[in-house]
Amino acid sequence: MVAANWKMHTTPADAGALAATIAARTRVDGPVIRVICPPFVCLAAVRDALAGSDVAVGAQNIHHEPLGAYTGEVSAPMLAGLATWVILGHSERRRDAGETDEQIGRKLRQAVAAKLRPIVCVGEQLAERESGRAADIVADQVRAIIGGYAGEGEALARLGIVIAYEPVWAIGTGRNATGADAAAMAGLIRATLDELEFTAGGAAVPVLYGGSVTAANAGEFFAEPAIDGALVGGASLKPEEMAGIVARAGLTAQARANGIA
Ligand code: PGA
Repeated sequence: MVAANWKMHTTPADAGALAATIAARTRVDGPVIRVICPPFVCLAAVRDALAGSDVAVGAQNIHHEPLGAYTGEVSAPMLAGLATWVILGHSERRRDAGETDEQIGRKLRQAVAAKLRPIVCVGEQLAERESGRAADIVADQVRAIIGGYAGEGEALARLGIVIAYEPVWAIGTGRNATGADAAAMAGLIRATLDELEFTAGGAAVPVLYGGSVTAANAGEFFAEPAIDGALVGGASLKPEEMAGIVARAGLTAQARANGIA
């Protein structure tokens, strides 16, 4: 799976053309799920541009309530017909909008109610990694966001939750984690889901790596059997880069389907 997080880039005037170009340049043989997550105001243009392709559309956030007096916010039910995926708990929103694990858990509930497939982001800060606390921080995030999902694990499993491990120090910095770091965290995330008695079992949950992924380094992550794809920021605005990343993902998907990776 390769998901493009366009962040606060593109306008309704240019987003459709960029999405169409990326869709055309990322057609590969392997079974790769492709998702483009543009800003809210570009969702309709991107949906229209991708009609007839198998590239899905995702939002970058939703509110934790379905409606109400929340000026400037967008709720999950409002995305009906516009998006089928949603990114939740991105570290830029934790940092800039003060999102907490508790709120992200509530957003997850809203996503499930609206049948939006969630990509839940977790990851440690640089100081947390340097002080040897990265694993504890990430496990705590998984527990806090998903552990509160009492009684609804079934719906979450059916919908197909995806978790993105995004070490905060690697996002937009050009300093990516190693494939081995990412694989170790994916193992920890799945073990934490098992500990929570997550319905489908941790092994059934796809884990993506995100943080300065490019066409040049994507192969290092996809070579790890524990990693199922990438959440791509900066490079996802460049069709060349997306073509390279998805081509890599396609080769990996084919090899895994044939039992040779
Ligand atoms: P980046 O962003 O690829 O620009 O580091 C990744 C993300 O924020 O999802």
